[in-house]
Amino acid sequence: MAAVMERQRIAVRPTGAALGADIEGIDLARGLSPDTVGAIKQAWSDHLVLRFRGQHLDDDQLMRFSACFGELDWAPVIAALRAKVPGQDRFVEPAEEGRRYISVISNIIENGRAVGALGAYESIWHTDMSYNPQPPSASALYALEVPPSGGDTGFANMYLAYETLPEALLGLIRGRLCRHDATHNSAGELRRGFTEVTDPRRTPGADHPIIRTHPVTGRKALFLGRRRNACIQGLELEESERLLDALWAHATRPELTWYQQWQVGDLVLWDNRCVLHRRDEFDPATRRLMHRSQIKGDRPF
Ligand code: OGA
Ligand code: MN
Repeated sequence: MAAVMERQRIAVRPTGAALGADIEGIDLARGLSPDTVGAIKQAWSDHLVLRFRGQHLDDDQLMRFSACFGELDWAPVIAALRAKVPGQDRFVEPAEEGRRYISVISNIIENGRAVGALGAYESIWHTDMSYNPQPPSASALYALEVPPSGGDTGFANMYLAYETLPEALLGLIRGRLCRHDATHNSAGELRRGFTEVTDPRRTPGADHPIIRTHPVTGRKALFLGRRRNACIQGLELEESERLLDALWAHATRPELTWYQQWQVGDLVLWDNRCVLHRRDEFDPATRRLMHRSQIKGDRPF
C-alpha cells in the first residue's frame, strides 16, 4: 500500500488564459497521498479548472478521485436512468437510485437507446444544477471517446467577471437574488416532470445571491446559473431582463474564457461556484463518450 500511496511530484502548468491549468506527472488511478491532494486543491483554488491528461480510470477510480474534493453527489435526474452502476458494466435500474453517482454524457445510441445525456447539441453557458438550493460545488468529466472535431468545452472565470464589472452594474446587483430556472437543461431540453414556463417571474427553481462568496477562497464571484427564465427578484421583469442581458454579455466575454479540446484520457475538474461552462455542438454521426461525477455543495451566500 505504501508504494501505491507514495507522494507523486506534480507540476502545475497554467493554460495562460483566464483560467485553467494542466496537472502533470500524476496517475489518478493510484491512491493519492494527503500532500498530493493538498497540492491539487491549492492548484484548483488558483486556477478554477484542472485538466489531467492521459488517465486510465474505471468508474470506481473516478469516484474515489472525485471524493477527494467532498462528498459525492447523485447524478442529475436527466442521466438517472443512464447512470452506470459503480464497479459493474451495467446501468442503474430505477429501484437502485441511490447508487447513481456516475452519469454518462454521450450522443451514442445503442439498440435504439441513448447511452447518455446531452446528445450532440450545443450546450449553452451554465453552472451545473444551480436550480437546486445546494448546487454541486464541482463536476468532473472524463473522456472515454472523443469526436475528431467539435464538442469542445468552454469555461469562464466568474471571479474575473465580478472584479471587472462596471461600477454601474455592480450597484444594481449588490444584495440581490436571482431565480435559477429548474425547467430546462443546458441543451435546452425540458427536464422530466416540468412544464414549459413563458413568464420568468413564475419559473420554479432556487433563489441565489448574484454575487456569491466562495466558501474556500473567500473571493467574490458572479453567480449566474443559466440565462433562460432567470429573474432578478425585486425588479420589474423588463429591468431584470435588461440587467441579466448586460451581466451575461459581460461574463461570457472571450477574454474571460478558456476552451478545452478533448483527448481520450482527459479528466477535467471544474468549480461550479466560480466558473461557467458550455459545450460546442459536434457531428452527431461521430461518437463522444464521457463519464461524469459531481460533488455536493453548500447553499450559496
Ligand atoms: C456537464 C456538461 C459539457 C460537455 O456534464 O455538465 O455541461 O462538454 N458537459 O459535455
Ligand atoms: Mn454542465
